[in-house]
Amino acid sequence: MKIRGLGRFDAENLLRGYSIGDRITVGQKSLTIVEAWLPEARRSMARRAQVIGAKDAGFIVSWMGIGSGSKVLEGGHGSGGLAMHLASVLGKSGLLASVESRPEHAEVGKSNMDRLREVLPEFPEWHLIGGEMSEVGEQVSDVCEKFDAAIIDLAEPWKVLASIEPMLRIGGRVACYCPTSSQLERSWESCEDLGLIVEWSGEIIERRWSKASKGGVRPGNQPMGHTAFLLIAGKIAPHEEE
Ligand SMILES: C[S@@+](CC[C@H](N)C(=O)[O-])C[C@H]1O[C@@H](n2cnc3c(N)ncnc32)[C@H](O)[C@@H]1O
Repeated sequence: MKIRGLGRFDAENLLRGYSIGDRITVGQKSLTIVEAWLPEARRSMARRAQVIGAKDAGFIVSWMGIGSGSKVLEGGHGSGGLAMHLASVLGKSGLLASVESRPEHAEVGKSNMDRLREVLPEFPEWHLIGGEMSEVGEQVSDVCEKFDAAIIDLAEPWKVLASIEPMLRIGGRVACYCPTSSQLERSWESCEDLGLIVEWSGEIIERRWSKASKGGVRPGNQPMGHTAFLLIAGKIAPHEEE
């Protein structure tokens, strides 16, 4: 096995006789053996498409009320970055349906999810469905008829919203993850056309602090990077005909 910063070694041989909590020396470095959890699985995950990180995933999960037992739909799955966050909160009574149109991305996402499954104490019922989001409605409905939440992270969310809206329960929510403002605007308009109520839109800004060399703590020198604009809309009951 080759790990950046540590070099090449045989992990099984190296760890033999050691337990969680022990310290071990690898080359010049002294390391602690810890139990793997979501942060460890994410740090070593394979990446193909751009992943949703903790900053945005944490907000999406909390704001949408996703938790133990929730039924969640995501498209596209990509490298499984968001799916890993979702899997860690859904518990074994939850369900996640992930849709991905590109098999080479699905393969990377699946390998990351398989590794996470090995370390989490509970893992949801997970279905990875290959195909275009707007064309796999039947396969998605086969695994779950109504979802509590749907998260769209693909280039043209407005093109798939119409196929997702019927799969949401009344009171369920959809989130669109939009790197650009034009994607946000078109998604917003599409939500309104479908009768979805836009509840929250904006971006989550993260500003890291560091310890100053002359003492004190202060904002670091790194730039505040942009990830995406978020739009969260809720499904209400249809209006009664007059
Ligand atoms: C930015 S990536 C998703 C990243 C993922 N949310 C994560 O956190 O790792 C977007 C993915 O959507 C897929 N995709 C694009 N259009 C799609 C569509 N219409 N239906 C299904 N998947 C689609 C792409 O192949 C790509 O893998």
